[in-house]
Amino acid sequence: MMSGVIRNKHIVMGVCGGISAYKIPELLRILVKKGASVKVLMTRNAEAFIGKTTFEALSGNPVCVSLFDEKSEGSIRHISWAQEADAVIVAPATANMIGKLANGIADDALSTFMLAVTSPRMICPAMNTNMYENRAVQRNIDILESDGYTVIEPDAGELACGVTGAGRLPSPEFIADRLQKLLYDKDLLNKKILISAGPTIEPIDPVRFISNHSSGKMGYAIAKAAEYRGAEVTLVSGPTSLCPPIGVRVVHVKTADEMAESMLGNMEQSDIIIKVAAVADYKPVVRAEHKIKKTDERLSLHLEKNIDILKVLGERKKQQILVGFAAETQELDNNAQKKLREKNLDLIVGNLVGSTASAFGSDSNKVTLYFPNGEKKSLPIMGKDEVANILLDHIAGKVMTDDDR
Ligand SMILES: Cc1cc2nc3c(=O)[nH]c(=O)nc-3n(C[C@H](O)[C@H](O)[C@H](O)COP(=O)(O)O)c2cc1C
Repeated sequence: MMSGVIRNKHIVMGVCGGISAYKIPELLRILVKKGASVKVLMTRNAEAFIGKTTFEALSGNPVCVSLFDEKSEGSIRHISWAQEADAVIVAPATANMIGKLANGIADDALSTFMLAVTSPRMICPAMNTNMYENRAVQRNIDILESDGYTVIEPDAGELACGVTGAGRLPSPEFIADRLQKLLYDKDLLNKKILISAGPTIEPIDPVRFISNHSSGKMGYAIAKAAEYRGAEVTLVSGPTSLCPPIGVRVVHVKTADEMAESMLGNMEQSDIIIKVAAVADYKPVVRAEHKIKKTDERLSLHLEKNIDILKVLGERKKQQILVGFAAETQELDNNAQKKLREKNLDLIVGNLVGSTASAFGSDSNKVTLYFPNGEKKSLPIMGKDEVANILLDHIAGKVMTDDDR
């Protein structure tokens, strides 16, 4: 779980009087679990759907409903909360509240607070389809977008009112993910990043294959972090059990040949290419048409070399930044630096696999970054999401230097 950026952040949640308010305690619970400090402002009408005691218990903070019930804190709550907020989310955002926010109306605690906020703001409209599609509501949403609000589109589906169409509040997990994105600097805005992840599988016969232990977690963490930082991400993924990161275009492949076709086909339009996948070096010369039957004899498999995708990427590279990974079981420095030179890379991330610090499938990793000028930077053991962000810091730094030229 990518929780780093949200830990210790002050999030203010505005809850309005919509039927989907019942989903908000779950959203609050997710944010608190990720280490955020959450404060809730709710409208009087929201109280008709859910009690403030629930939010008080889950957030561990007082809940504000009225501008005039705030005397206990000794400061003006709607102003002090606005000042300390790192991000604000209004969910569900009713048609009524959207109209008020678009027009600068401040006639209750939440709408007044929203005028005092300067941090990033996100709203999640949720309502009956006809209400959502109403011109006035759409006009107000357009105004909020041009005022800098991030607007999360509602899902389509069956609504509580029995209508089927757009207007349903997305899942709490989805909203929490988009809120995390809101907190990131968009230092890779519009950069096109191509990432490969996971293992490849090389079929022996219709039921068996050769593969490796790669879980895909490192590549997926980089794809997710890059999307949070504003990049347009294409993830070419071998078979994994991971959920596709939100906002990322995922191309599913199985074999090294399929991965090569996709990576080489996408390379030209990419600014940055990060090859994390553990591509099988060899594949069976012959793929048996039918299942190979067991006999008393030994079975020999004849293997031939697969295409070296990273090498070809390095040969064809023009303006792109090319980053590779080296998973080694010995002599990490030598092997990683050799690969960096031979494959014409701008950066390589080396890790010693097999140790407990970098076990396959683990959520953490211990890596060393190697640069073309011979420098290296060893990082302590940390979450793969943190490794992803440090790697992207280096890449973003290089992108900026290159743009200055
Ligand atoms: C049962 C029920 C469900 C409602 N659900 C929604 C909803 O999902 N979205 C919405 O915009 N309004 C909904 N409304 C209407 C709002 O509650 C109403 O517009 C109210 O004035 C909103 O107040 P607030 O924006 O101050 O919370 C619903 C009303 C009722 C009675």
